[in-house]
Amino acid sequence: MSRKPFIAGNWKMNMTAKTGAELIEKLKPLVKDADCDVALCVPAILIPEMVKAAEGSNIAIGAENVHWAPSGAYTGEISAEMLKEYGVKYVIVGHSERRQYFGETDESVNMRAQAALKAGLTPIICVGEMLEERETGKTNKVLTRQLTVGLGGIDDITKCVIAYEPVWAIGTGKTATDEQAEETIAFIRKKIGELFCPMCAEKVIIQYGGSMNAGNCKGLMAQPNIDGGLIGGASLKTDFATIVNYNK
Ligand code: 13P
Repeated sequence: MSRKPFIAGNWKMNMTAKTGAELIEKLKPLVKDADCDVALCVPAILIPEMVKAAEGSNIAIGAENVHWAPSGAYTGEISAEMLKEYGVKYVIVGHSERRQYFGETDESVNMRAQAALKAGLTPIICVGEMLEERETGKTNKVLTRQLTVGLGGIDDITKCVIAYEPVWAIGTGKTATDEQAEETIAFIRKKIGELFCPMCAEKVIIQYGGSMNAGNCKGLMAQPNIDGGLIGGASLKTDFATIVNYNK
């Protein structure tokens, strides 16, 4: 079964309205003939400007987080409806930085993903192990917990994107090898087959994220189970277009 590859950027807490719009202007002609889906997930305050900048192009704009409630007394949070109103298509949930620094749990990740789906947004649900967990052979156990709880109660898993981001590879320049990423993503796909159905597992898009760049994207994208990338640092420059055009 063929899955359409999906390359997304995660700007994290970087860029301004000016530098972001400038980068999108540069990227537009460079990515226009991409064979994959393309998105940039940007800081919430930049969303209106970046949606405007990307208008008429094949670059979709995503958010970096979403709250689970439709509205209410949640100071500082943003609802799925608010994102939707501004033309957002995707939203990252459960990024390891949110889990590490902002106390997010598999349960809250699940609630956020469900809220995104309910509003018609595509959640990019991040999972991944820490270095110590990999070194002590706990990777599959951690992923099983993150997937079982994080995806619990989701009706249609094919409406979600999964991003496998080993925490030790994020922002470290230390990418998982093609084989490590393939083996772990194959495990994730198998687990999704068990939790949902084998047909759904064949359809669901699973990205790799963690120091993916213009140099290593070809090897990673050549792996049968890797359907795309979630790109941090390299999405802040025109290198992002090289990754999007990994097959050219
Ligand atoms: P880097 O590509 O900077 O390692 O970040 C990956 C990431 O966290 C994307 O969500």
